[in-house]
Amino acid sequence: MSEAAGPMKIPRGLAGVSVTDTRISKSASDGSLIYRGYPISELAAKASFEETAYLVVNGRLPTRVELAAFSKGLVERSKVDRRVFRIMKGLGRKAHPIDVIRTAASALGSLDGEKTMAGKEASIEAKMSVLAANSRRLPLGMRPRTPKKGLGFSDNLLQMLTDRKASDFDRWVFERALIFYMEHDMNASSFTVRVVASTLADPYAAASAGLASLKGPLHGGANEAAMEMLLEVRDPAKAREFVDETFRQGRKLMGFGHRVYKDFDPRARLCKEYLKEMTERRRESAWLYELCDAVEREMWERKRIPPNLDYYAAPIFYLLGIEVPLYTPIFAASRVFGWMAHYNEQVEENKLIRPDSTYVGPSGLRYTSVGERKA
Ligand SMILES: CC(C)(COP(=O)(O)OP(=O)(O)OC[C@H]1O[C@@H](n2cnc3c(N)ncnc32)[C@H](O)[C@@H]1OP(=O)(O)O)[C@@H](O)C(=O)NCCC(=O)NCCS
Repeated sequence: MSEAAGPMKIPRGLAGVSVTDTRISKSASDGSLIYRGYPISELAAKASFEETAYLVVNGRLPTRVELAAFSKGLVERSKVDRRVFRIMKGLGRKAHPIDVIRTAASALGSLDGEKTMAGKEASIEAKMSVLAANSRRLPLGMRPRTPKKGLGFSDNLLQMLTDRKASDFDRWVFERALIFYMEHDMNASSFTVRVVASTLADPYAAASAGLASLKGPLHGGANEAAMEMLLEVRDPAKAREFVDETFRQGRKLMGFGHRVYKDFDPRARLCKEYLKEMTERRRESAWLYELCDAVEREMWERKRIPPNLDYYAAPIFYLLGIEVPLYTPIFAASRVFGWMAHYNEQVEENKLIRPDSTYVGPSGLRYTSVGERKA
């Protein structure tokens, strides 16, 4: 395009614009999602968190030896410097968990002793779950929880998040939720990570930026907002009234809608099945599945907008006994693997991401001194 023609106009929010080629993952409007070529349903049914993380980061499934080394590396690198814990604690009782993790990720940029790029990436991947699990405990003055020897990534995160002993099925479901949260092509936080990576800033800087964009309720914060909404409604019989009232007030229903999926989110569909089974296994929780289903039906009837992953991951976390403010941190603990895959892909084929804009403000104004300006 010639200079004279001016910059190309792009749809708002970059909707429908492909900003790069990627080999990491792809979601599509027909409800499909692949990680490195593998359908998400296949990975959910058969793969462990570590296998999936290796796949996302390295581009192929690991051999037995590679998987063992990767899993060992995650445990070995999970030790967080006490100075980072002290910084997290110092943020105080009112600190938002994502602010706490973001601050800790920034601090790691100065305090982590890793020398190589691969080491820095592996370090932030391994430590994010420890930061996430302690993002409330430390500011509240509680002792940090750390990974236990002999447990896998998912079990370790769960034992750091909650005191409850989970059944085998619940642990399996939690691992599936983490797999779903790991990667999702050009979502807002991965795009943010790529923008930062394109300046050749280090992985800590990129992860801190990813965390910043994950905080908002239109992205990572939606799982917490969805749970708060479900707890506010409580009674499946009140679903209609609640949806009516939400729309009357011109508000959005959190956990619904997606830039890509217009009919269904495959991750939400699978989580809904898992939630059903979880509630069937604990009779007293039947209300929660019925409530989710009732709100989903109302939303579909009215707006034809389907639920997304956050909507069905939230009640799963709730039944696992995890506190609501830790839901977005869980997202971060898993998504960091996707972020690092994007970081690498960006750096390997780098071109600084520096778009243009169309100026629509005034021009040719004359400067007046402060005393001459009218209010
Ligand atoms: C995810 C999201 C930001 C996608 O947004 P988008 O692709 O930019 O789509 P828009 O926000 O422009 O929505 C398109 C239309 O659907 C409506 N819509 C989308 N999501 C909605 C929701 N959760 N509740 C009510 N209406 C919604 C919008 O109001 C808009 O209606 P309009 O055309 O009459 O103005 C949006 O669906 C949303 O805000 N969802 C709630 C937050 C959430 O769950 N985020 C997690 C995403 S995984």
